[in-house]
Amino acid sequence: MKFVISSLIIAYAFSASAAADDLRSSVLREAAIDAGFVPSSATRQKTNPDLVSLGHLAFESTQLSAGQDIACATCHRDLFGSADGISNAVGIGGDGAGDARVASGGRIVPRNTLPFWGVGGIGYDTFFWDGKVSGHGDDLVSQFGHLALSSDPLVVAAMVPPVEVDEMVGDIGHLTTETVESATVIYDQLVEQLATDPDISDAVLKAFGTPANDVKFENYAKAIAEFIRFNFAVQDTRFHEFVFGKGNLTEDELNGGLIFYGKGRCSMCHNGPYFSDFNFHSIPSPSGSFGKNGFGIDYGRFNVTNDPRDRGKFRTPPLYNVLRTAPYGHSGAYLELSDIILAHSDPLIVLNFQKLSSPQRQDIYQQLRLWVDEPVSQSAYTSKELSQLISFLATFELDAEREVISP
Ligand code: HEC
Ligand code: HEC
Repeated sequence: MKFVISSLIIAYAFSASAAADDLRSSVLREAAIDAGFVPSSATRQKTNPDLVSLGHLAFESTQLSAGQDIACATCHRDLFGSADGISNAVGIGGDGAGDARVASGGRIVPRNTLPFWGVGGIGYDTFFWDGKVSGHGDDLVSQFGHLALSSDPLVVAAMVPPVEVDEMVGDIGHLTTETVESATVIYDQLVEQLATDPDISDAVLKAFGTPANDVKFENYAKAIAEFIRFNFAVQDTRFHEFVFGKGNLTEDELNGGLIFYGKGRCSMCHNGPYFSDFNFHSIPSPSGSFGKNGFGIDYGRFNVTNDPRDRGKFRTPPLYNVLRTAPYGHSGAYLELSDIILAHSDPLIVLNFQKLSSPQRQDIYQQLRLWVDEPVSQSAYTSKELSQLISFLATFELDAEREVISP
């Protein structure tokens, strides 16, 4: 009798904890859906295989740069989760990958290279750390103004790197300024260069039915956009399987998820299908030794809007494969995932003020001024909860086994 009662108690306790787990799982599923998380198929755009093949070749071709020395794949590398694994990108004159590239002494592009997971999927219409290309169709905003050659923002975004002086141009004769006129000259030159590659010429003919000498640069941009959309499309992650299928999470992942959508307030900004609201916020994050605006300063969104309220704000980064895309932040100032997460709620413990120059400190003070109004400045978690948050972020891992594409 004693034995029966104690096994009944154990069975009851077990089913009570299983019920509590079920309840917590349903709370997490509901919270994710409320925050705009959708099945992966609802993010994918249809793509055309001939355009994808051409885009793939162009993406890896150094003929896409005026000096024929750098490709998109030089910085957007598979090895580093489609970024480059270094804080600030190294463009023209750089050599090698990772730390070797930093040591090689090429020109610095003073922002952290963005990875491509989900880029250009349905609803992903705001590009770059400052959102300098955004919107769709008639609402599209970019530095090309009304001269933008496509209503598809990813096509326009793909036209930017080949005409950025430090990124892919260098000192080619008089073309050292970034104007629409100099861009047109460079685009024409790139079309001529790309047409000298027989594989690319064949792929152009297949994709557009036209000889490579007759296509315009925007055709290549279209193909590259198609390749990015196809190759880096969102597929089911463990988190999708948990929310929409029969997948389970471990205890730590479940707790991390409840913090992410609950008291951590992460989903106030990292929401929707890509874990980004595609809006601009201030999270204290140093701009590095260079900075888009010079001397370790980066005005962020202000560079696009000229609105003083945007100074120091950056686009909320999407979080797919985030464990593979270190360093973190708009200029890669944080090497560890835990540091950038702590910087959201307790920046003084991760910022080393002594090491910053006076202009760099001013840059941070400006970000701190705006940060106090961000709700995440009031969230707090223990170190155990922080590691549970990281376990949860690891469930957004996409396609770890994919084939490596090398430049
Ligand atoms: C020198 C390194 C480098 C090269 C070469 C390079 N990129 Fe990038 N890419 C970056 C950096 C750095 C960023 C972030 C820049 C910013 O936000 O200001 C970025 C961002 C992007 C983004 C925005 C992604 C997002 O989520 O908003 C797109 C799209 C992109 N690059 C496409 C390309 C294409 C296409 C090429 C080739 C034509 C290319 N890049 C070549 C370094 C590079
Ligand atoms: C107020 C909006 C907001 C909230 C809330 C928020 N973030 Fe962020 N997050 C950002 C912005 C903006 C950045 C980029 C900051 C920068 O570099 O200037 C960022 C950067 C990150 C990064 C680095 C990604 C990368 O690729 O560099 C991670 C990881 C991250 N956040 C996780 C979290 C977690 C976990 C939480 C909850 C504890 C959280 N965020 C809450 C806006 C937010």
